[in-house]
Amino acid sequence: MSSRIRWGVIGSGGIARRRTIPEGIASANNAALAAVYDVDPKANAEVAKQFKAAPAASLDELLADDIDAVYVATPAHLHYEHVKACAEAAKHVLCEKPLGMTVAETEEMIAVCDRRGVKLGCAFMMRFVAQHQEAARLIRQGRLGQPVYARAQLSCWYPSIEGAWRQDPTTGGGGSLMDMGGHCIDLLEMFFGDVAQVSCFIGNTVHGYRSEDSAVATLFFENGALATVDTFFCIPDAGSKNVLELYGSQGSILAQGTIGQGPAGKMVAFLEGEDHGYDAQQARAADQGLAIEPAPVNTYQAEIEEFGSAVLNNREPSIGGRLGLRSQKILAACYESARLGRTVEVV
Ligand SMILES: NC(=O)c1ccc[n+]([C@@H]2O[C@H](COP(=O)([O-])OP(=O)(O)OC[C@H]3O[C@@H](n4cnc5c(N)ncnc54)[C@H](O)[C@@H]3O)[C@@H](O)[C@H]2O)c1
Repeated sequence: MSSRIRWGVIGSGGIARRRTIPEGIASANNAALAAVYDVDPKANAEVAKQFKAAPAASLDELLADDIDAVYVATPAHLHYEHVKACAEAAKHVLCEKPLGMTVAETEEMIAVCDRRGVKLGCAFMMRFVAQHQEAARLIRQGRLGQPVYARAQLSCWYPSIEGAWRQDPTTGGGGSLMDMGGHCIDLLEMFFGDVAQVSCFIGNTVHGYRSEDSAVATLFFENGALATVDTFFCIPDAGSKNVLELYGSQGSILAQGTIGQGPAGKMVAFLEGEDHGYDAQQARAADQGLAIEPAPVNTYQAEIEEFGSAVLNNREPSIGGRLGLRSQKILAACYESARLGRTVEVV
């Protein structure tokens, strides 16, 4: 294998075309796009032409190509069969979230990749947001003190669209919670560690499709911290600021707009150190906090370079199957909680 991973893509016509190929595979320092496949041949031919890759006419043809790794960017219900096909063909595979539709599917995907000796990555690219990395570093250093509470919000306006796979749980695995809440939950585990229990409500507040358009989950972490995830398909894009709030015994880290696809948003830290005393007036500091402004990182480029580096150096990807499975277990517990109307443990 050369120092550049030769990538294939399954499902070239969606997010792959919009972002992951141009910003990720075509821009990464250790990647080259070799071949693409999409069930829509017209879209596939356009992507192949635009990015100078070979258009495969079938999945088998793509997998028979001289490629090292595959990026799977098909609708959620197809990830299971596509990841297994890649692994059986001895290709490393970076799969979009959610990895599978269920915990059992995800466990099997991990097992097949292990058995075939290929790396499995999960495309939780929001971990690579520069401000998120900086916040995680501050938390690891103990600057937030003991983690107390967090909120992660990701909402958009997603009206009813004929045939939209996210709007049917049999193809999307769920609605706003599965599609966008998964990112929020994964980020919160990066900041605060493992979630132990969840309590969740889901519903259809505005839209009439079968997947939920509304979800709020409360997470209870093993370290005793709490968090809420609020994720809606029925709030206009401009009306939701995708806030991220991290509170601890020594202050807070507050962000707007960092949860999302592009390098964007603002993050400010209000950190007091260990020796803050009791103030009966509960005076709020007049200062505006410490702006967290690291150099922006393109999350798609970062995820492709990191996965490629894992393959080239024969190590586990930093966002691998285990994190994909964690996410799946927590999401399953949230749906179970919403169904039963009680708190559910994450096992
Ligand atoms: N991390 C992110 O920024 C991000 C953003 C959007 C979507 N996603 C994830 O990416 C995946 C795809 O979402 P999307 O928005 O691109 O969906 P999409 O519907 O826009 O695109 C999916 C593509 O897959 C193709 N496809 C469908 N069935 C196929 C098959 N059997 N074989 C080959 N190709 C097939 C479709 O023709 C389409 O081009 C999902 O898992 C989603 O959660 C991630």
